[in-house]
Amino acid sequence: MKKMPVILDCDPGIDDALAMLIMYQNKEIFDLKLISASAGNTPIDITTKNIQFFAEKFFNGVKVAKGIGKPLKVVHPETAEDVHGVGGLGNYQIPEQNYPYEEDSVEVMYKTICDSKEKMNLIVIGPQTNIAKLIQTHPDVVSKIERIYAMIGSINGIGNVRPYAEFNAFFDPDAFKIVSMSGIPMTINPMELGHNSRLKKSIFASANAKNDIQIMIQSIIDGLYEWRDPSLVSIFDLHTVYSIVKPELYDFVPCDVNVTLDGKKDGECFLKENPDAKNYYISLKNPAEANGEILEDLFSME
Ligand code: BDR
Ligand code: CA
Repeated sequence: MKKMPVILDCDPGIDDALAMLIMYQNKEIFDLKLISASAGNTPIDITTKNIQFFAEKFFNGVKVAKGIGKPLKVVHPETAEDVHGVGGLGNYQIPEQNYPYEEDSVEVMYKTICDSKEKMNLIVIGPQTNIAKLIQTHPDVVSKIERIYAMIGSINGIGNVRPYAEFNAFFDPDAFKIVSMSGIPMTINPMELGHNSRLKKSIFASANAKNDIQIMIQSIIDGLYEWRDPSLVSIFDLHTVYSIVKPELYDFVPCDVNVTLDGKKDGECFLKENPDAKNYYISLKNPAEANGEILEDLFSME
């Protein structure tokens, strides 16, 4: 099977970590060229360190690059340590990191994309800051990107950090707007998917963890705090990767992407069905069945 050339841009982040683990488990699908850090769930230094850790442990040899520390225009970004913990990985403590990384992920991304014989895919499961900057700085990159698979926004203008905005969209709404209007096809994993498929936290705690990785998963999830209902867990970002690995579990709905930037509801997002659109949003055909497969995959990881 031909591997998908891909750059991962993320802000780990508990669900980002699970998404990375699913990529590790499916190395025969992904030709991972670079992991780029965005600010989001925690400040950029912490997301970069977490990525260094995952790169060393699971993707040794892959390039790592640190992205932009602030959203394009938002002056006081709100990080999400209240959900993900101060270190971003719940109750899991990573060791000190020495894995090499480069400073300017926008330039590293551009070079990686230009060096590739095939069009590149981007998996973006944090705010879109680095991707927007890449498009602004190097507009020729648009024709070199096959598709962006993103966790961001919502179908119906609802949110988790504001009544109208999802976290990644709210953190850098200007970036989301730029990317959504760039012409690069997007496959969006909207907030509703994660909300409609929450898992009981206790399922993770009581899983029969058989090795260090599985114990690490338990410790990461154990530190997640969903303030609406602490007994539940949303694994938003994981679905962005899982929908590539197991597309049969998802519906792919062609849609237009509309992002609000009016100074009142910045980051509000509507995904409007349009049979002719080249963007899609995903939804789960059967959340219970998908959750069963996800748990089985996580707790068979070696
Ligand atoms: C998104 O926000 C972050 O907290 C998660 O990692 C996910 O990418 C969900 O709204
Ligand atoms: Ca994320």
